[in-house]
Amino acid sequence: MIIGSIKENTTIEKRVSITPESARNIIGLGLKVCVEKGYALHLGISDSEYKDTGVDIKASSKEVLNSCDLITKVNCPTEEEIQILRDNTILIGMLNPSKNKNLINKFFDKKIKSFSLELLPRITRAQSMDVLSSQSNLAGYRAVVDCVAEFEKAVPMMMTAAGTVPAAKVLVIGAGVAGLQAIATAKRLGAIVSATDVRAASKEQVESLGGKFLTVEQNEDMETAGGYAKEASDEYKNKQAEMMKEALKKNDIVICTALIPGKPAPRILTEDLVKLMKPGSIVYDLAAEQGGNSAFSEAGKVNLVNGIKIIGVKSLMNSLPLTASSLYAKNLFSFIRNLYSKEKKDFNINLEDEIIEKSLIKKD
Ligand code: NAI
Repeated sequence: MIIGSIKENTTIEKRVSITPESARNIIGLGLKVCVEKGYALHLGISDSEYKDTGVDIKASSKEVLNSCDLITKVNCPTEEEIQILRDNTILIGMLNPSKNKNLINKFFDKKIKSFSLELLPRITRAQSMDVLSSQSNLAGYRAVVDCVAEFEKAVPMMMTAAGTVPAAKVLVIGAGVAGLQAIATAKRLGAIVSATDVRAASKEQVESLGGKFLTVEQNEDMETAGGYAKEASDEYKNKQAEMMKEALKKNDIVICTALIPGKPAPRILTEDLVKLMKPGSIVYDLAAEQGGNSAFSEAGKVNLVNGIKIIGVKSLMNSLPLTASSLYAKNLFSFIRNLYSKEKKDFNINLEDEIIEKSLIKKD
């Protein structure tokens, strides 16, 4: 069985799905690996590093797509690439099925069995494959690094002979994977950190990282059985907005990470709320590509309103593509290890396995 990967469109995606380390692990399962020539050169990884681990280097993407039983990708393949794939190929990536419905419909004509790793269930056994967690964790870290670079003051408190510099105040909205890492990173840099979330369970996690939890009183449990958030009621939204009024006046940096799976990003910061912030403050919106948690946020743009910078994030993983690739490739390896049967020397699409059943894109 041969596993292969081709270059992504590197102007929009700098991550790769197979690293030399993950290739070594895949080969260790008894599988063969090939990649297209110059596969990860843009990341400073040469073909010879792949060759040294036993990877076969093919001259073109066509050769890879034509010769493999399983193809790994970061993003959905293009229509042209789908045409070249052999019938019955297995395809694994972050295929974003709701956005790429037309492309994915073309898979069915060629009987391509595709797995989209964003659809993995958040269960213990799937943790090592959880691409959303591995990438969001990095996003939370990078959010703080970007904010600090944009912020025109120092972050930690400093007591100097010339006087005392106060610590910056950071508010994190949404304490899921990205939010918790943002809290941890901002604390490490010396900021005074607070956070809020609709899920009551997140209070303890925020506090264990040294953050202050801002509670919005509620009677309902806002957490689903899968550990995600339910959509907030109007009553909750009003109470949250009241709480935000005071918090926004005090904080220098606000990092927005609120997400409800399958829904547009919840709009938490209205125009009036954003305008309560001090000039020189920053709103960093990780949800900008899904419509934004904040007013004035646009993906890929920095908007200035009353001296407040509203940063709308786009393709954030391109800011740390080597680390993002390394974790993504490890996630993929874990998925492949679960899919491959060493005894049968074949991939085993066992629909009784929740991991396989949930991530497999099915017709209709
Ligand atoms: P997550 O599901 O782990 O966390 C989201 C949190 O928001 C949850 O704890 C949830 O309870 C909370 N939440 C939902 N509604 C809320 C509300 N009204 N008020 C307060 N909290 C609320 O999601 P994750 O993985 O941390 O992702 C966070 C955001 O970062 C998402 O929008 C995601 O798309 C984005 N992201 C962007 C990346 C990029 O490259 N641009 C990369 C990774 C993540």
